Formats: sequence, C-alpha cells, structure tokens
Amino acid sequence: MKTFSLWISGLLLISLTGAHGLDYFPENLVVAKENDVNPIKLTCGTTTKETVTWKHKGEELDEDSVEEGVELNGSDLILSKVETPLVGEYSCWRGEKMLSSFHVLLEKEEAGELESFMSCRAKSYNCSFSCTWNRTGYAAVRLGLGHDCRQGLKSCQWLGSSSKKIQNGAFQFELPHSLSPYAEESSRLELTAEAISINNQSVLRRNKNFYLRDIIQPDSPKIVRCQAVDQELNVTIEPPSTWSAPHSFFTLENEIEYRLKDDDKRGRSSSTLIPKGISQLRVRCRDPLVVSAWSQWTPWKNVRTGREVPCQSRKKGGKKNRKKKQEKRKNQDAGLSQAS
Ligand SMILES: *[C@@H]1O[C@H](CO)[C@@H](O)[C@H](O)[C@H]1NC(C)=O
Ligand SMILES: *[C@@H]1O[C@H](CO)[C@@H](O)[C@H](O)[C@H]1NC(C)=O
Ligand SMILES: *[C@@H]1O[C@H](CO)[C@@H](O)[C@H](O)[C@H]1NC(C)=O
Ligand SMILES: *[C@@H]1O[C@H](CO)[C@@H](O)[C@H](O)[C@H]1NC(C)=O
Ligand SMILES: *[C@@H]1O[C@H](CO)[C@@H](O)[C@H](O)[C@H]1NC(C)=O
Repeated sequence: MKTFSLWISGLLLISLTGAHGLDYFPENLVVAKENDVNPIKLTCGTTTKETVTWKHKGEELDEDSVEEGVELNGSDLILSKVETPLVGEYSCWRGEKMLSSFHVLLEKEEAGELESFMSCRAKSYNCSFSCTWNRTGYAAVRLGLGHDCRQGLKSCQWLGSSSKKIQNGAFQFELPHSLSPYAEESSRLELTAEAISINNQSVLRRNKNFYLRDIIQPDSPKIVRCQAVDQELNVTIEPPSTWSAPHSFFTLENEIEYRLKDDDKRGRSSSTLIPKGISQLRVRCRDPLVVSAWSQWTPWKNVRTGREVPCQSRKKGGKKNRKKKQEKRKNQDAGLSQAS
C-alpha cells in the first residue's frame, strides 16, 4: 500500500477560479462523516491491471506527495478520517481518459435542529405542502420524502437541487405527497434535508418526521357579507379558495376580531354573531378537528358606519348536510385512530 498526498498549491489554484459555492448537488457526491473511523473507498472502476492516476481538485496525486489520510489500494483510493483538506473533487484517469470522479464533502457534526431553520406548512389536505429553508451559508439545498432519502439511497427522488432561492439564504420548496385527504394518517411523513455550504466543503443533513395534519395552516378565510340581525351583526365567512373541498367535510372554525365604534376596544368572537356597533373586523380560521395553526388574519375590513345594514347583504346560504358529514368525519377519525 502506498501513501499519497495533496499539494496545497492545488487548493490555491482552485480558490482563484471563483468564490461561488457548489450551487447544485453533484451526481457523484460522496459524503464523509466528520470523525468517522470507517474509511471511504473511491473505486476507479477499471477492470484491467493498467496503472491509473488519481487527481484531487485537478492536481495529480503522485508517490512523492504524501499526506495523511489518502492511500492507494490497487486502483482504488482510500480516504480515512476525512477532514477539510481532503474534500473536493477526485478523479481517476487512464492516460487522458477519465474513468470516474467523485465529489467528497464532509458532513459536520453541527448543532441545530431542522425546526430552528426550516418550517413546513400545508394550506390544505391536498397533494402538496411547502417548506421554507431559512439558514444562511448554504449554496444548494434539497429535500426528499421517504425512507430512501433518509438512507441516502440513489432511488431517492430529491426535490429542488436548483430550487427557488427567495432571498438571503432562503429556499422555498413545494413537496408533492400522495396521502389521501380523506383518510386518517397512520404514519408520519419522513422528510430529509441536505444542504451544501457555500465554501463547498460541508454538507448538512437533517431528518424530521411529522404528520401532514401537524403542519396544516389554512390561508385566510374570506369575509363575504355582514347582515344586521336585531342588535347584532351576522358575518358570513367563506373558507379560503386553497382549502380542501368539499367544505362540508373539511370544516373550518372561524374567529372574528372587531373594534367597537364607541371606544375602539377590541373583542373576539367564535360565533358569527357579533355586536353591531363596530367599526372594523377581521377573521382567521383553523381546522377544529386537528386543532391546526390559525391562518393569518384577513386585513381589517371597515364596516360601513351606516345605520341598519352595515355590509351589503345577498342571498341566504344553506347549512344542509354539514352536520351529518361532520359527524361522519369525526366518527371516521375516531374509528381510525383507535385502529392505529
Ligand atoms: C465549488 O465547486 C465548484 C464546482 O466544482 C467550483 O466551480 C467552485 O469554484 C467551487 N467554489 C469554491 C469556493 O471552492
Ligand atoms: C486493499 O485491497 C485488498 C484486496 O482488495 C484488501 O485485502 C485490503 O484490505 C485493502 N486495504 C485497505 C486498507 O483497504
Ligand atoms: C426565519 O428567519 C427569521 C429571521 O432570521 C426568523 O425570525 C424566523 O423564525 C425563521 N423561521 C424559521 C422557520 O426558522
Ligand atoms: C385541491 O383543493 C382545491 C380547493 O378545494 C380543489 O378544487 C381541488 O380539486 C383539490 N385538488 C385535489 C387533487 O384534491
Ligand atoms: C347568518 O347568515 C347565514 C347566511 O349567511 C344564515 O344562514 C344564518 O341563519 C344567519 N344567522 C342569523 C342568526 O340570522
């Protein structure tokens, strides 16, 4: 077994070529764990006994250049105890022909839970949800759902290696899922996030398991009309257009906040009947069955300072079968959660 080293001049050369990080995930990514005792084997992939040469960041690794942690074994390269100087691109050559290449990055034992820099939210039980990555210092971020991604298998379908970058270090993802909106979830979604640091050297990897119902947060509802009923105001509220249908099945609970005309005091109501003498109101909603997060409030809506009918009134709505189906949904939930 021979030992080889890496020329530091190679590092200098590379750093002159650009200060941009790796803003995509290379196909041939090899992730080495910090302080891992198991060596990493890079296979050249040649079957012949011909001699091959290895390059690290474009610099040939020859017998004179000896550095700790890099060893040649046949045509394979063995990296043990990978530290920062050993990261980067490795390629195996026979003459002018490149036989294989690898991009070695280091997975650092960094602190910080995924929750502290990534939040996910579903606007409905429909087929996707969104996540926002919020941590600076990363040039590329990707997310994957399922066991294969957690294990880092090739079969994982990563999303967003060239994802939308929204602002300073933030990335936005829209993740499709195949959960039925009607069934109680029996198992959690497994989300894996990977990110490459802007200095091209390290990879951050995190997992998070959760139920879709835990990240439900509807969009704001709509205030359709207000109608004077005796000394009160009957506010008609509709679910946001992004909410799952049918609405008789996917019920939402609303909360109204209002400002009283007389003293500008605020009040809240979970009933749609509120005091008549108000100047403004706004509404938010949530799924009462899973007790989801509240939506954002709607903007304040001015209530006309007229007399009898503060808001335009139109035709009456109907409650119809809502009660029945709600019961059905509740029963279904109860039944399934007992079964799980
Ligand atoms: C990161 O890697 C890419 C691709 O190998 C390279 O183009 C870029 O210059 C590297 N950036 C740094 C800061 O090393
Ligand atoms: C080198 O390869 C040989 C045979 O393939 C193997 O027995 C040996 O353990 C290897 N050495 C290292 C350090 O992996
Ligand atoms: C995103 O970043 C902002 C500002 O740094 C912070 O206030 C917010 O809590 C972050 N959100 C998440 C989900 O990490
Ligand atoms: C998603 O929700 C919208 C709004 O309720 C609905 O119109 C649409 O059919 C839903 N799509 C699926 C695939 O469930
Ligand atoms: C409030 O309005 C809704 C329709 O918008 C109607 O169904 C309901 O009966 C009204 N409530 C009262 C107390 O008038």
